[in-house]
Amino acid sequence: MTQAPQQVPYTTNNAGIPVESDEHSLTVGADGPILLQDHYLIEKMAQFNRERVPERVVHAKGSGAYGTFEVTNDVSQFTKADLFQPGKRTEMLARFSTVAGELGSPDTWRDPRGFALKFYTEYGNYDLVGNNTPVFFVRDPQKFQDFIRSQKRRPDNGLRDNDMQWDFWTLSPESAHMVTWLMGDRGIPKTYRNMNGYSSHTYMWVNGGGERFWVKYHMKTDQGIAFLTQEEGDHLAGADADLHRRDLFRAIETGDHPSWTMYVQVMPFDDAPDYRFNPFDLTKVWPHGDYPLIEVGRMTLHKNPDDYFVHIEQAAFEPSNMVPGIGPSPDKMLLGRLFSYPDTHRYRIGPNYAQLPPNRPHSQVHSYAKDGPMRYEAARTGAPYAPNSYGGPDADTERYGDIAGWRTAGEMVREAYKLHREDDDFGQPGTMVRQVLDDAARDRLVSNVSGHLLNGVTRPVVDRALQYWRNIDKDIGDRIAHNVNGG
Ligand code: NDP
Ligand code: HEM
Repeated sequence: MTQAPQQVPYTTNNAGIPVESDEHSLTVGADGPILLQDHYLIEKMAQFNRERVPERVVHAKGSGAYGTFEVTNDVSQFTKADLFQPGKRTEMLARFSTVAGELGSPDTWRDPRGFALKFYTEYGNYDLVGNNTPVFFVRDPQKFQDFIRSQKRRPDNGLRDNDMQWDFWTLSPESAHMVTWLMGDRGIPKTYRNMNGYSSHTYMWVNGGGERFWVKYHMKTDQGIAFLTQEEGDHLAGADADLHRRDLFRAIETGDHPSWTMYVQVMPFDDAPDYRFNPFDLTKVWPHGDYPLIEVGRMTLHKNPDDYFVHIEQAAFEPSNMVPGIGPSPDKMLLGRLFSYPDTHRYRIGPNYAQLPPNRPHSQVHSYAKDGPMRYEAARTGAPYAPNSYGGPDADTERYGDIAGWRTAGEMVREAYKLHREDDDFGQPGTMVRQVLDDAARDRLVSNVSGHLLNGVTRPVVDRALQYWRNIDKDIGDRIAHNVNGG
């Protein structure tokens, strides 16, 4: 909130009419009954009863800010997307979040963090809705709802429950990579400014000549990675539940603008079928040695919202917002997400959510969509149907040229991805434990997992968890077993 001006304006009701009192209801005599004609009082009570919109079903607690994305390298040989052309600057919005906690939950719970970006490009909004993790717990959208329920609250007592979490994880071995990541240092970032963001999914890029590439995005923090230990996180959850929100807001307010450098890994289109890992499996990374990082640009956050609810609570990110030059990949999770987000926005903030300030494109909208609750922008079409002979608009077939897609054919099946040469659930987390973590990080991993398993997990589930960890790395599994079984 800003300093009060010398001369304050007069209060009005929602219709702009000056109000008679901010403090007293209209009554018959000072001690008498309230009159129904006090429409200002009634407006206040009615508005208050409707202040909340449902919280996001996941990623409810978050923080966000506006910024600018600036291209610093020439990647035009890989994509014709307008926002990635040399020298381009694009306004954007970022929202960071925890996943499982509710709107008021502590920022320092161990959890992945959402890393959602909305770029207001010349050709509409491009949303890159990632996490601070390069992988995810499951690889089929059929399992997402079950996974989330295992992380949220129990139906009987309303409590979160480590037993549910380990029960689901150990029955879903594809979770091993993400769980290793989560239980390690990066599972509690020190601040939102001190974490990376990843697309996690593979996307398609198409260049001006119609050539296609597979890409993964990496947003590396320019503030450096920093984390909290379990003990620090636990303490801060009570001492300052809004620590990360406060930190981001204060940094921007004081001119310490956080930034991230965007890189991509680029895989030639035809490499995919024979790559050693299934390149569309969300539980796998592409090792940097196979596909090195290529710099694209830098995003800097420099403007706090002036109203948190308007700009951040009503922000509606949707992976289906892809602009010409960018398309989906055959990642089943991504394809599931393309449906889910616009659907939840229609429920949470209404069917005309795209007209709200954080979601409104900065480019012209000439959509044939019309009417519906809370619509306030007039249609900019010659007639409410297409084609029409009253000025269009007409579809932009030229800008798209080739559709960002791939050839496919086959029987309808319900099957897992085809395995590639080195696909298995425990290989990449094993590499992380053995080759990426140092001794101190491995010690913290063992301690974090042991503490979690000792907190309300039933014996059969603990036994499965010990086998799960031994599959990732025999030594780490043995050390956890030693702690959990009491030496
Ligand atoms: P590299 O040695 O090139 O990369 C290892 C990467 O691990 C680092 O670049 C860093 O990612 C990340 N990292 C470092 N410390 C941690 C930590 N405590 N928790 C989580 N991630 C950490 O090896 P590879 O590319 O061959 O990957 C080896 C393993 O590293 C993978 O199996 C995967 O588990 C993990 N990893 C790989 C990433 C990738 O995209 N290739 C990304 C992140 C993790 P960053 O530079 O992004 O900070
Ligand atoms: C939020 C569904 C997987 C990142 C959400 C929301 C839903 C959802 C319904 C709430 C959106 C809102 O109310 O605004 C799904 C489904 C998934 C999936 C069905 C899998 C099939 C993922 C994955 C990632 C991810 C893999 C990261 C790579 C996010 C982020 C948000 C979010 C960052 C918060 C967006 C914001 O800040 O408003 N998800 N999700 N989700 N999801 Fe997912």
